[in-house]
Amino acid sequence: MDVITAILERRSVRRFARRGVEPEKLGHLVKAAIWAPSGSNIQALHFIVVTAPDMLTALKSVAPGLFSLPPAVIAICVDRQRAMSKGGTGGSLLGMMDACFAAQNILLAAQAEGLGTCVIRSFHQGSVRTLLQCPQEVVPELLVTVGYPEEPLPRAPRRRPWSEVVHLERYAGAGASALGLEGGGDP
Ligand SMILES: Cc1cc2nc3c(=O)[nH]c(=O)nc-3n(C[C@H](O)[C@H](O)[C@H](O)COP(=O)(O)O)c2cc1C
Repeated sequence: MDVITAILERRSVRRFARRGVEPEKLGHLVKAAIWAPSGSNIQALHFIVVTAPDMLTALKSVAPGLFSLPPAVIAICVDRQRAMSKGGTGGSLLGMMDACFAAQNILLAAQAEGLGTCVIRSFHQGSVRTLLQCPQEVVPELLVTVGYPEEPLPRAPRRRPWSEVVHLERYAGAGASALGLEGGGDP
C-alpha cells in the first residue's frame, strides 16, 4: 500500500473484530513509531503494548474516550526527565510532539497491515500511569487502540473545504485552486 492511499483510507476505528493481533504485527507498529522524527533527537518516548484482557478492561475504566474494548493498546509515554534534561524547558513540549508523530506512524503502519486504530487522548493520565506501573517521570500522553476492524468500516468524517483552509503565499491568498485542489471535504 502506498503512503497516500494509507493516509486517505485510514479512519478512526472504534469497533473491532474479536480476533487478536499477531505480536509480530504489533512489533512492526512499534518499530514504525520508534523511527518517527524526534525533536532534537531526544528520544524520550516509551511504548507500552497492552494485550492482556484484564489490563485492557482496567484501561477502559479510566479512559472515557475509549468506547469499546480493543484487542490491543499501545500507550505512548514521555520520559519527562529525559525530555527536560536534554531539551530544557521546551523539552516537555517536544516530547508531546514526538508522541504525536509516533502515533501517526503507528496509524499508517497499521493501515498498511490491514489493522484499524484510534488515537485516544481522553483518559486519566495518573490512573493510566499507575496501572501501567510507570515511574513518576514517565507520563502516558496518547493511547492508540489496535485491532482488526469490524465491518462496515466507518465513513470518513468530512474535512473543511480546501478553499477555507489552504492559502498560497499569505493567509489572504486563495491557494486551493492554484494548487489543483478543487472542492474538498471527502477523501
Ligand atoms: C489528539 C487526538 C485525540 C483524540 N482522542 C480521541 C478519543 O479520546 N476518543 C476517540 O474515540 N477518538 C479520538 N480521536 C480521534 C478523532 O476523533 C478522529 O481522528 C476524528 O474524528 C477524525 O476522524 P478520522 O480519524 O476517521 O479521520 C483523537 C484524535 C486526535 C488527533
